[in-house]
Amino acid sequence: MRHGGYLADRGLATALFVSLSLHRPILLEGEVGVGKTEVAKVLAAAFGRRLIRLQCYEGIDTNQALYEWDYARQMLHIRALSEHQIADEAAVDKLFGPRFLLERPLLEAVRAGDQAVLLIDEVDRADDEFEAFLLEVLSDFQISVPEIGTIKAASPPMVVLTSNRTRELHDALKRRCLYHWIGYPPAEREVEIVLIREPGVSQALARKVVAAVNRLRELDLAKPPGVAETIDWARTLDFLGETGLDAQAAQDTLGAVVKERDDLEVVLDNLEEITSGA
Ligand SMILES: Nc1ncnc2c1ncn2[C@@H]1O[C@H](COP(=O)(O)OP(=O)(O)OP(=O)(O)O)[C@@H](O)[C@H]1O
Ligand SMILES: [Mg+2]
Repeated sequence: MRHGGYLADRGLATALFVSLSLHRPILLEGEVGVGKTEVAKVLAAAFGRRLIRLQCYEGIDTNQALYEWDYARQMLHIRALSEHQIADEAAVDKLFGPRFLLERPLLEAVRAGDQAVLLIDEVDRADDEFEAFLLEVLSDFQISVPEIGTIKAASPPMVVLTSNRTRELHDALKRRCLYHWIGYPPAEREVEIVLIREPGVSQALARKVVAAVNRLRELDLAKPPGVAETIDWARTLDFLGETGLDAQAAQDTLGAVVKERDDLEVVLDNLEEITSGA
């Protein structure tokens, strides 16, 4: 993972290793921007697997997750058929064959099997019914398309689920998965993360940014900065040629870390303190 630019702590690395070896899906929860999604991307790259991503959102349904029939192509095909051909059952059956099937991420992942890492991102955004349906797919990696038959993964893909905890997930789903909470990394570790992601940034600047971000996290902000913001802030300061982080430099670049108007006011009131010692 380090080769892929990701620093996983011992707990995460162990959980991923077990998940991969025992074919158990892994559920990653944590604060915003702490590297949950990135885990799947880096794993796929590290093992030379294809990353298949199912981005969840409110109202997502099975059509978007499993498969759809390619209506446009079916219509074109029907038009090209003569009246005589249309009367033929076989021609109609063909319309619901593999040629007209649009694979969506879950079907794609079942087909790819252990050649893939399936990322089910932000599963907390999908609704209950979808979660129940996911549970079914995850339990046997088998998908049945009535017109075609059952498709089963010879060997299941590695599955990474992420959640930002906007709602509790069901116990049944959790039971099926290994669980790992990703918190904010310790300061020293976060400095390392900044440096691995932005090798151009000096260690001194990275330290200062991390110290300031940690103070921001102690304030009662609606959107505390994640690791992503730390990296962004360091990159921004470095780009502007700053070598330190005083109140002025911080104020000029706050847009890289604070993205909420109310938070901005709180932070501006405390700028000296946030950057002091930084
Ligand atoms: N341990 C780490 N090692 C390397 N990079 C990291 C680490 N943690 C976070 N990052 C970086 O932080 C950025 C944000 O990561 P990512 O998008 O995976 O976060 P997330 O937890 O999925 O966020 P969100 O909750 O917003 O979806 C990425 O650019 C990633 O490279
Ligand atoms: Mg994410």
